[in-house]
Amino acid sequence: MLRIEALTRLHDRKSFDCGEAALNDYLRKIALQQIKKGISKTFVLVDSIIPTKISGFFTLSSCDVVTCDLPFGYAGKYPARAPAAKLARLAVSIDQQRQGMGTLMMTEAMKRILLVSENIGIIGIFVDAKNQNARNFYEQFGFLALQEKPLELFLPIQSLVAAWEAADYSSTS
Ligand SMILES: CC(C)(COP(=O)(O)OP(=O)(O)OC[C@H]1O[C@@H](n2cnc3c(N)ncnc32)[C@H](O)[C@@H]1OP(=O)(O)O)[C@@H](O)C(=O)NCCC(=O)NCCS
Repeated sequence: MLRIEALTRLHDRKSFDCGEAALNDYLRKIALQQIKKGISKTFVLVDSIIPTKISGFFTLSSCDVVTCDLPFGYAGKYPARAPAAKLARLAVSIDQQRQGMGTLMMTEAMKRILLVSENIGIIGIFVDAKNQNARNFYEQFGFLALQEKPLELFLPIQSLVAAWEAADYSSTS
């Protein structure tokens, strides 16, 4: 059975390979340090059969946004800078990609960010897509490209709330 839990030193970070060296290195060398310092939180997808083996991970942090770069229709709605959540990393083990694991982790990340938004003001979620394939993946969840920054994507908090209510994910744990 798959489950998502906070990264600890008991997880096998060394064996994880998503095909992107920078993401592998982040998980191996930086993620735990950043958790300790309170900079970001990393969660891992594991299977209860081998709970130390990491199938995927994602990292959440906060960020400060320059709102004039927001997609058309959003840029004028906010003060010059505004707080947001950032999906700082997302990766699935190369041998498990295209099996729905990325979608599963996105759903969990969105659920956690919704909880944050009920307690702290944030205008939405930001993500830097690595490439066009990653952008295609994020667009399925309603992310929009920033003006003249095609790989920097924004999901307004109102869209997240509406999508969540429409899907009635609230009834799942
Ligand atoms: C991008 C990534 C996180 C997606 O996770 P995943 O588990 O492979 O994705 P899913 O199986 O949930 O895919 C759901 C849908 O997203 C789209 N999608 C996923 N990967 C895609 C790709 N490489 N190219 C185009 N579309 C893609 C497809 O529509 C897919 O549905 P389908 O398989 O039925 O066609 C994963 O491929 C990955 O870790 N890649 C390497 C690291 C990376 O680029 N991370 C993103 C950093 S910005």
